Amino acid sequence: MAKKEKKSLEFFTDWKYAPALESTDHIRLNKQYDLFINGKFVKPNSDKYYDTINPATEEKIARIADANAKDVDTAVKAAKTAYDKTWSKMPAKERAKYIFRIARLIQEKARELSVIETMNGGKAIRESRDIDIPLAANHFFYYAGWADKLEYAFPNRHPKSLGVAGQIIPWNFPLLMAAWKIAPALATGNTVVLKPAETTPLTCLKLAEIIQESGLPDGVVNIVTGFGPTGAAIVNHPLVNKVAFTGSTTVGKWIQKSIAGTDKKLTLELGGKAANIIFEDAPIDQAVEGIVNGIFFNQGHVCCAGSRLFVQESVADEVIHKLKNRLETLIVGDPMDKNTDIGAINSKMQLNKINEYIKIGLNDGADMYQSQCSIPKKGFFVKPTLFLNTSQSHRISQEEIFGPVLAIQTFRTIEEVIEKANNIPYGLSAGVWTDKGSRIFNMTQKLRAGVVWANTYNKFDPTSPFGGYKESGFGREGGLHGLMPYLKF
Ligand code: NAI
Ligand code: MG
Repeated sequence: MAKKEKKSLEFFTDWKYAPALESTDHIRLNKQYDLFINGKFVKPNSDKYYDTINPATEEKIARIADANAKDVDTAVKAAKTAYDKTWSKMPAKERAKYIFRIARLIQEKARELSVIETMNGGKAIRESRDIDIPLAANHFFYYAGWADKLEYAFPNRHPKSLGVAGQIIPWNFPLLMAAWKIAPALATGNTVVLKPAETTPLTCLKLAEIIQESGLPDGVVNIVTGFGPTGAAIVNHPLVNKVAFTGSTTVGKWIQKSIAGTDKKLTLELGGKAANIIFEDAPIDQAVEGIVNGIFFNQGHVCCAGSRLFVQESVADEVIHKLKNRLETLIVGDPMDKNTDIGAINSKMQLNKINEYIKIGLNDGADMYQSQCSIPKKGFFVKPTLFLNTSQSHRISQEEIFGPVLAIQTFRTIEEVIEKANNIPYGLSAGVWTDKGSRIFNMTQKLRAGVVWANTYNKFDPTSPFGGYKESGFGREGGLHGLMPYLKF
């Protein structure tokens, strides 16, 4: 590090914020959670349970049922009966009332849900509180509004529901992903069997309690916990009419193969390796904030994370200097502290994967820069990491790391950066930073990405569709588009 740079960085490490811990007194958690089937919590036929932990402390929080194929069969049959006897017969405006009620209950319990999301997933409380939980409620509100307006959403096309939706979600946004899946399914008149990720079941199980409290008819939403085989049993169940999956590309491909030849509908939302592109006329300070938000938000556990940075050569030195400075001010540590920017990595497995990629980057000859911060001894943490001077052929520039690790390249021309940005197997999202409106439109036409943010990053709203190209999957969630995968015409 240059001498001058080191001096300017020290300024930020001289002082610290006092801890500002979010209280955990008000949350209610059971020691053990059973499966939520047909409106009740029931013991698993498997008789098996596993421990769910807090990744920031490695302490056990609760015992969770591990559902087998028999349990999944019971849940799917409950969903099918609820579909045939109740839900598909109910007037749409009545269905909407339940969905609105779920939205309001999420809002009422927002504080408890935020704390539990942070305890179980490791993400900073500021994010659970300000992003995950409010957005989850908003998705229910938004789709509740559509329930009795489907004829207007798709005029003259007479949309009909499909039946039972089997939904499998990941650990990076546990309650929010449940909302993305359940809300449109219910609004379109389908019933649901959902499996949360094995490491983050708790807010989905709290949602099951909310669903009970809302009076939603039994069996309309069923929540089964477990690992890969539980998910596979949902995918392969003959009474499941639609599969919605968010997770790894490997599992997504496997699901696509397993349902080939059936008439099950499928949407897949898989990985990403987004390009965040900074042009020389960009507002540099805002762009630096956008880069930080793009890759360090939620520890980089974001499929649309801006994990590749392309900076135009003429401003590269300035951007990278400011980025390093900003890195030093990021607070890494206890996710329950309201000052924390970067919380815990979700699991030991994911921590190992990230550390493995950091080694790969070093072995491939990229220059690494890490924040000088210290990280807690216990729990799963990693320092925010930059790789400078990377090239297209580096594995850290091509593969999804799903952690706070940014691969940086420079570019000279628009053609060059478009070529490089598109030259990966993924196509989920991208970011463009420039003062020039026409360039934004030019870039959004040419970037092969489902979402392109301009002069901002990682902004979400229930009214806008989200989804990818290429190995990032297919189908859209959110907005009017998000209704379509749950309907036949
Ligand atoms: P995963 O794809 O194995 O897990 C996602 C969900 O699928 C979980 O609920 C899991 O239990 C379930 N699942 C696993 N195997 C299954 C099977 N054979 N059939 C049906 N369901 C199955 O992802 P994992 O292993 O947690 O993470 C591996 C990598 O995947 C991450 O490092 C990251 O790169 C990527 N990932 C991408 C996500 C995204 O939002 N696009 C979310 C989570 C992970
Ligand atoms: Mg896996």
